[in-house]
Amino acid sequence: SALRVLVLSGSSRTGSVNARLAALVASLVARAGAHADPATLGDFAMPPYDGDAEADEGPPKGALALRDRIEAAQALVIAAPEYNASVSGVVKNAIDWVSRFRPQPFKDQQTLLVSASPSMVGGNRGLWALRIPLEHLGARVYPDMFSLAMAHQAFSDGGSLLDAGLGERLGTTIGSFLDLAEADTRYLCLQRR
Ligand code: FNR
Repeated sequence: SALRVLVLSGSSRTGSVNARLAALVASLVARAGAHADPATLGDFAMPPYDGDAEADEGPPKGALALRDRIEAAQALVIAAPEYNASVSGVVKNAIDWVSRFRPQPFKDQQTLLVSASPSMVGGNRGLWALRIPLEHLGARVYPDMFSLAMAHQAFSDGGSLLDAGLGERLGTTIGSFLDLAEADTRYLCLQRR
């Protein structure tokens, strides 16, 4: 059966460039023969992490729902905006809530990081910051990342990239990532026998 890939946009803003990049990634994942499960962090409302609230009420519904979606996936793509040269507080907060679950849903999860920004660096510094908590939790963060610069002018009306070379590079990155995730899934299945 097809590899299930959760494609998560870290921004739910109307007109979000990361949501547009996530939509393009989801279509490329599907074209590669895998199953794309698109989502945005806005689907998983959670308050700022608070240890007292956690002790009193347990994790919020949004965190439980995100945990379930990550667990249902065999690979994960995160499209995350860069805020102040780092990972956005909204994305980090979601990771902090999810980090409280055992078994840990990010552990051993093949994860590809992509970003989009209107700036020239395309949010790449945010991805380097995002790697740290994810790798800490045991995610297998793919070495290659994709950052889309000048993202407000990068998309065609149909949602593809206007720069054909860049579109090809995104397709190649996703293809290589899916190959690795598929091989890893087979390996994990064999190990569990
Ligand atoms: C930004 N933005 C931004 N961009 C960037 O390339 N480097 C940065 O350090 C920052 N810092 C930053 C901080 C804050 C608080 C905001 C609100 C924005 C701009 C950001 O890339 C832009 O708003 C994108 O459009 C955000 O992504 P979405 O929401 O379009 O996906």
